[in-house]
Amino acid sequence: MPSLAELASEASTCRRCPLSLGRTRVVWGGGDARAGLMVVGEGPGREEDREGRPFVGRSGRLLERLLLEEAGLRREQVYIANVVKCRPPGNRDPLPEEIEACRPYLEEQVSLVGPQVVLTLGNFATRVLLGTSERISDLRGRTYRWGGEGTVLVPTFHPAAALRGGGEVQTRMRADFVRAKEALAGAPAPR
Ligand code: URA
Repeated sequence: MPSLAELASEASTCRRCPLSLGRTRVVWGGGDARAGLMVVGEGPGREEDREGRPFVGRSGRLLERLLLEEAGLRREQVYIANVVKCRPPGNRDPLPEEIEACRPYLEEQVSLVGPQVVLTLGNFATRVLLGTSERISDLRGRTYRWGGEGTVLVPTFHPAAALRGGGEVQTRMRADFVRAKEALAGAPAPR
């Protein structure tokens, strides 16, 4: 398997789907490549596309706050990636064929980082990694085994949903971030 750096370099000129035509920069992801916690979002927004880094806008600021306040982790201590690495025009939802084109990158990223816990943000990240079409509101609130290495997947809402939906969504997210911290500490065992 190639290294994370080799994959990032390959992705930087990727033409696997039409999102490549509208992007400013590929947002590969980053952070601690040996992190215990990997966070997976949906796809770059305007600021991420401009900077080439994930979660640098409003959603990112909320993500950083919840990571620190509920899991005791700074963003440099986790690895952050997205389902699609290029910005969908106008921040629309990524299309199934775009998600499929980018899926090998995400799966290789998860394998190479080898986190104990993957925190998925929102419908797209959760669905693609769990292979389901269920809704995040039904999937969150528990942990899942992921892959064959004892990785635990913790689904939660996307920070943008908390920014739109207010306090109640954020309260549930906080509980999920605590769940991720507990899973990192080895408890409770996933069902
Ligand atoms: N939303 C995401 O899902 N990912 C980002 O990188 C930024 C906003």
